[in-house]
Amino acid sequence: MTNKAFLIKTFGCQMNDRDSEIMAQLLGEAGYIETSEMEQADLIILNTCSIRAKAEQKVMSLLGVLRKHKKRKPHLKICVAGCVAQQEGQEIIRRMNHVDLVIGTQSIYQIVDLLDNLNDHSVATGLEDDYIIPSFIPNLKPKGKNSDSPEVFRKFLTIMQGCNNYCSYCVVPYTRGREISRTVNDIIEEAHALVDAGVQEITLLGQNVNSYGQTNAVTESPQNYTFADLLREVAQIDGLKRLRFTTSNPKDLSDDLMSCFAEIDILCKQFHLPVQSGSNNVLSAMHRKYTRELYLEKVAALRKYCPEIALTTDVIVGFPGETDEDFEQTMSLLEEVQYHGSYSFKYSDRPGTRSQHFENKVAEEVKAKRLARFQSRQDEITMLHNRNYVGNVYPVMIERNEAEKMVARTASNLLVHFSDLSSCNVAGDIVPALITHAGQHSLQGELHQKKD
Ligand code: 5AD
Ligand code: SF4
Repeated sequence: MTNKAFLIKTFGCQMNDRDSEIMAQLLGEAGYIETSEMEQADLIILNTCSIRAKAEQKVMSLLGVLRKHKKRKPHLKICVAGCVAQQEGQEIIRRMNHVDLVIGTQSIYQIVDLLDNLNDHSVATGLEDDYIIPSFIPNLKPKGKNSDSPEVFRKFLTIMQGCNNYCSYCVVPYTRGREISRTVNDIIEEAHALVDAGVQEITLLGQNVNSYGQTNAVTESPQNYTFADLLREVAQIDGLKRLRFTTSNPKDLSDDLMSCFAEIDILCKQFHLPVQSGSNNVLSAMHRKYTRELYLEKVAALRKYCPEIALTTDVIVGFPGETDEDFEQTMSLLEEVQYHGSYSFKYSDRPGTRSQHFENKVAEEVKAKRLARFQSRQDEITMLHNRNYVGNVYPVMIERNEAEKMVARTASNLLVHFSDLSSCNVAGDIVPALITHAGQHSLQGELHQKKD
């Protein structure tokens, strides 16, 4: 029998990217072969996102396309995983008889068993309160110029899952369950395995990394062990060149964590700190548990520890009840903080959330206008930040060094395009770049040659 080919299409966040890697590894170990061609695949997995209505619509329209595809190729198996699967799994199976398997967010580790024992339209969407994230060691081949595997130099490491915050607009507590931290030992072991395989940069992942260790599954870890402690421990691994993390809720941002930016050399001076709104009325309705004033205090403290830190944020416009005045508060917060960049979204109702039932929904045209205004001002501010790079030299980590694509990344998380990179340099190397030009989304640079 020939090996079955699988294709995974991933939507949404980095958490999903990592989950797709885990499923791909498990399938690979079970004899499946990965393909990027839909035509060749015997198994197609959609790893879905339901954070905003738009993300879910994309999944639903692709499922429509796959219905036709399966008519031409009846033996094809279609699997829906991720947050849409978790929340809408039963409904998908009921309405879409071309879907063979629905895998919830906590069941990805069972993917091979579930496929082996596939009944008609199987669903695995239990959300266990006492769930423990299985220890999972990536099977990466060591990086090297002559290795036939793609070079791996940058990886995500999941340190916790789920969320206990229940922001009133957010589906995550319903799709990913209660907040669960992995044990320190599991995390450190995985970090070592990554570095041994040639990984130079690790991003620690969690919905709210600031509350690492405060919930479940860390019984084997030292008492009162915090996320800052974890950062310090991972940073000590020999051979690791860059460390990042995401995401943080401002309410739990401790002074100790901020001080890590001053203290840990390899911690990239970049911080994603979602604010969502600049209005206290809206923040309170969102159940964010901090005020505009507290947020600004944290930003000021962070900049004291690390003046050059590149700050980014998430913003929702048109939350139910958001008035013109509330929105002006968000605009003025943008002026005050001068974010390097931001992700901004029109509010959308999500199933199961509290805000779905709030009154005073904001009209679509108003949301669209507010979003356009926010984004255009952010673009101007981003451009000013980006222009400040020009003429200066920064250490950048090479991502690709191929004839047509020579790109590297600054510690602040901006891409730098090169027209010429020395052929001695490979992905993962850190080289000095003189920035020659700033664009809206990336920079251009050249290798900086030291003069004697
Ligand atoms: N509507 C719009 N944006 C949302 N986000 C989360 N839920 C919603 C929603 N219902 C945004 C938040 C979050 C980011 C990942 O997605 O800004 O930080
Ligand atoms: Fe989307 Fe959130 Fe689920 Fe990630 S955790 S896939 S962002 S809904």
